[in-house]
Amino acid sequence: MEALIAEGTGVGIDPGGLISVRGLSRAGVDVLLGSARAMRDDGLRPELTGTQVNLFFEASTRTRNSFEIAGQRLGLSVVNMEVASSSLSKGESLEDTVRTIDAMAPDFLVVRHSRAGAPDEVARWTRGAVINAGDGAREHPTQALLDCLTLCDRFGARSIDGLSGLTIALIGDVAHSRVARSNLALWSMAGAKVRLVGPRAFVPEGFEELGLDVHRDLESGIAGVDVVYALRIQAERQHGTVYPSLGEYYTRYGLTIERMDRWAPGAVVMHPGPVNRGVDLAADLVREPRSLVEKQVENGVWIRMAVLHRLHEARKEARGDG
Ligand code: CP
Repeated sequence: MEALIAEGTGVGIDPGGLISVRGLSRAGVDVLLGSARAMRDDGLRPELTGTQVNLFFEASTRTRNSFEIAGQRLGLSVVNMEVASSSLSKGESLEDTVRTIDAMAPDFLVVRHSRAGAPDEVARWTRGAVINAGDGAREHPTQALLDCLTLCDRFGARSIDGLSGLTIALIGDVAHSRVARSNLALWSMAGAKVRLVGPRAFVPEGFEELGLDVHRDLESGIAGVDVVYALRIQAERQHGTVYPSLGEYYTRYGLTIERMDRWAPGAVVMHPGPVNRGVDLAADLVREPRSLVEKQVENGVWIRMAVLHRLHEARKEARGDG
């Protein structure tokens, strides 16, 4: 778990891709936040050339469409490999599939996979830059970056350091969440205070050693915080019973307007999606003014454009034509 707080040293972004937020320095995060803002707020629109292949081996609505729109807005040719109808269904291995795609000379491979570490393997088999779009329960770097941009917007921060005064409550299935891992790394880099809230099945022992407060009840966990970040219960990554039931989880930890009003009246609510209404959050909380859920999705496109742009520049520089 100490890897949660490790920090890279580079100022920019590795031309090989973005697999983990741990490879980014503070300055690197700020460069990406600045690029996203410049495109969103000032209308800057770099014209990129090249091909982006989206390889999604797991379901996705937000990340896949957001990467597709981001690539198209920048002028890239975007290809979505249809995994179900690809030769993987005839028994081709992941390595052979990636080497086949690589022979078509893609510039970017955006990879989502149920297995932690799959994007690192893909990176060994391609000359393109690999962007991790979520691997198992390990990392989801662009989700954490878009969350960071959303928090900076809401709290008037121009850099990640500007989030240092925040107290953030992360509620729910931390154990199986790649979003939690990437966000904890960036919040630690920011110097924010973080509380983890949930039962032992989802927030196991050991996080206190990292300086994180652990709360077993929702009331003490969210009292007085600035941000309440709810996670989806990752039922697909759990074998057997999911905390004794989803109904029991909602009774103890589900966020409702009434609970927010009573225990964290000034806090904003975030969730990476997909939201399980009536499990993680009450249906009517999602569309309330205190909910940043749609802002997170909006910022996802700008952050992914920033990542593609910065990787494009880093690759040009690495080739010596920057
Ligand atoms: N937040 C997120 O990764 O959503 P999708 O699974 O829809 O991409």
